[in-house]
Amino acid sequence: MTLAVDPKGLGRVGVLFGGRSSEREVSVMSGTGVLNALKARGVDAHAFDPGTQSIGELEAAKFDRVFIALHGRFGEDGTIQGVLETLRVPYTGSGVQASAIAIDKLTTKKIWLAEELPTPAWRLAHAHSDWMQMVAELGDQLIVKPAREGSTIGITKVTRHDGNELALAFEEAVRFDDCVIVEELIRGRELTCAILGEGRTARALPLIEIRAPAENYDYHSKYFSDETQYFCPAPVEPRLAEELQQLCVRAYNTLAARGWGRIDLMLHQDARGDRPYLLELNTSPGMTAHSLVPMAAKAVGLSYEDLVLEILASARLEVRS
Ligand SMILES: Nc1ncnc2c1ncn2[C@@H]1O[C@H](COP(=O)(O)OP(=O)(O)O)[C@@H](O)[C@H]1O
Ligand SMILES: [Mg+2]
Repeated sequence: MTLAVDPKGLGRVGVLFGGRSSEREVSVMSGTGVLNALKARGVDAHAFDPGTQSIGELEAAKFDRVFIALHGRFGEDGTIQGVLETLRVPYTGSGVQASAIAIDKLTTKKIWLAEELPTPAWRLAHAHSDWMQMVAELGDQLIVKPAREGSTIGITKVTRHDGNELALAFEEAVRFDDCVIVEELIRGRELTCAILGEGRTARALPLIEIRAPAENYDYHSKYFSDETQYFCPAPVEPRLAEELQQLCVRAYNTLAARGWGRIDLMLHQDARGDRPYLLELNTSPGMTAHSLVPMAAKAVGLSYEDLVLEILASARLEVRS
């Protein structure tokens, strides 16, 4: 599939990558891939690292538009989006508000719950939480996570309670964010759904199933191990796959996301059938050669380069002047 995007018509393009978050390393890989793809298509693209370069330099670069290939804080959380709105430089992906909401798993879950979209039950955790009460309310299979982190950083799965496991998991998560949530652990298949576009034109790409070796949730194994297997399209019955894709598009639109994004979800099976649980929306997902959005795009014949061009072509400002 070739897109009708004129590379020269895109003007001088900045590719923002690196940044200051704990996901800097992945962002460098994402941004390098995006930059190379744009250059290969004849786009006048330039690297820009907000982790080492100033806002003054960003303004002086006089970009006509930018591709945000930053992950986590100061990249995916509305802050750089706010800078770009102020400088009047159109950018890829969600605007200030949707980015700020989606980086925060707690706010995301509250909105999804209000819209009757399924998400695992949770409680907020504090240093003085009554852990036994939490187990009584949520069950003894739990996941403790910082509300605003990514790439499984600070996440602990707690399935035993013969010591102070929950308190230790809280200590780990709170290193990354003051806001820590404890979620019921969903047993089942792990899926992810890439979405392009916005509103009525938002479309889901094929689902991907991720099968990680048992007990492996950490950052390193997720990104650098070859033991994790990916199935794309996910081996899910077509009608169910379509239902899940529609659910993810609704969840994406409910947060007013735009441009592109990726929803992580779990699929649990019990006597009542297949039950999906939405985990989070990533508004600036990984774009390395091995990342999930490019994998899903490829399954519908959209090459990495075409994907990058399509996302870039949708760059815009949210706030009108
Ligand atoms: N409630 C849950 N039940 C089962 N597994 C979970 C749950 N929450 C998180 N996980 C696992 O941890 C991974 C990371 O969690 P997620 O909420 O997507 O945060 P992030 O990707 O931002 O670190 C998920 O991909 C999934 O494997
Ligand atoms: Mg995730």
